[in-house]
Amino acid sequence: MGLYKDVYKKDVETYINKTPESKNKYEIANNYMPGGETRSVCFHKPYPLTIEEARGAYLYDIDGNRYIDFLNNYTSMVHGHAHEHIAEKAQFALKKGTAYAATIPEKIQFSELLCNRVPSIKKIRFCNSGTEATMFAIRAACTFTKKTSIIKMDGAYHGTHDLAAWDSRYNTAVFPKNISQNIYVAPFNDSETIEQILSLHADDIAAILVEPVMGVAGVIPPNEGYLDKLRKLADKYQVLLIFDEVQTLRLDIGGAQEMYGVTPDLTCMAKIIGGGFPVGAFGGKKEIMNMFDPSKDGFLAHGGTFNGNKVTLSAGIATMQLLDIDKIEKMNSLSIELENKIKKTVKQSNIPVTLTRVGSMMNIHFTENKPENYAETLHSNKELIDILHIKLLNRGIFIAPRGLINLSTVMTQQNIQEAGDVFKDALQEMMPLLDR
Ligand SMILES: Cc1ncc(COP(=O)(O)O)c(C=O)c1O
Repeated sequence: MGLYKDVYKKDVETYINKTPESKNKYEIANNYMPGGETRSVCFHKPYPLTIEEARGAYLYDIDGNRYIDFLNNYTSMVHGHAHEHIAEKAQFALKKGTAYAATIPEKIQFSELLCNRVPSIKKIRFCNSGTEATMFAIRAACTFTKKTSIIKMDGAYHGTHDLAAWDSRYNTAVFPKNISQNIYVAPFNDSETIEQILSLHADDIAAILVEPVMGVAGVIPPNEGYLDKLRKLADKYQVLLIFDEVQTLRLDIGGAQEMYGVTPDLTCMAKIIGGGFPVGAFGGKKEIMNMFDPSKDGFLAHGGTFNGNKVTLSAGIATMQLLDIDKIEKMNSLSIELENKIKKTVKQSNIPVTLTRVGSMMNIHFTENKPENYAETLHSNKELIDILHIKLLNRGIFIAPRGLINLSTVMTQQNIQEAGDVFKDALQEMMPLLDR
């Protein structure tokens, strides 16, 4: 913290005073887990909250503070927490035995539901995370095309396996030999670079892997015609188009592919389809997915002890059945309301803030202009986002430390009103900072 150190220090003091038990727990946790956590994005300074319970739109920490949850476990809890109907279905499944090495009626029901719902998915396979979904989709694409490289977007998050996590600029990990030779990186919203790469290397490239809307990278929407252009380029150069809809499936009944009217060859899913339990799935064209058919010689193996287990699928089916167009539209209109409230506050100030929003997902950036790719989000003032984040926590609003906000279907007008007031208060306190 540089320029705004003193302001931040005051907010940190308030945070520590409000959350002494979380501080204690963090100190204990630090003895056993590096950074006191087991998932990088859960950490923020000075220490993350310890949450005791989550219900509906709210999180409750062990100090008894209540937060409106505008993060929803990074978009996955689309109906909020401990939803009665979903919990009932999961509990019923718990009593029937949770996982066995055989098929279950829920696998058939859920695969039918998702095949009917998502335009590109004609056949599907379940796994246990979005990480596995993108890993298997890439493996399927490489096997199908008999090519070994992919194109992915700069700064895109597709999970934690090596091909997904490798990124020349942002990752400090040392990867197994030759990983980088299998990946070409292009900025999001830049189809020209993709065409250049394809014109030189199409013989080597199996697929273009892209989130239709960049999620964790900062809720960056595709420019008009961008996804369509990717579809055309994939066809022209005979590579597959893979949509990572792990976050964006919530945007429409059939995900972002339905919203933008562009159908990929393969789709990766996770988060909402698990109803709060670990999940992943990938699916697409029959001729590609049929490679996984174990009744055929030379089939493509797909393991996973807990693939399609009864609890996850029961909760997932209930979640997706509940997520109808009315609920999606309700989330979208509440999101517009919140966006407008924040914009109104920002207009009255000289703080360089922009909001990017698609449906019920948005991101706040401390930039002059809306970012169109990940590199542009890096212009966002990191100190200001840290200050806003802690000010919001101190006032009971829970968002991602990097500014990701998303809604759940159980949120009400009152939640939006409260959040709008808190944003106003927090941003107004920050205004003098920029008057120096
Ligand atoms: C777009 C995208 N793809 C893949 C993943 C990985 O999913 P999981 O955390 O279930 O492995 C994520 C997780 O945030 C994601 O946002």
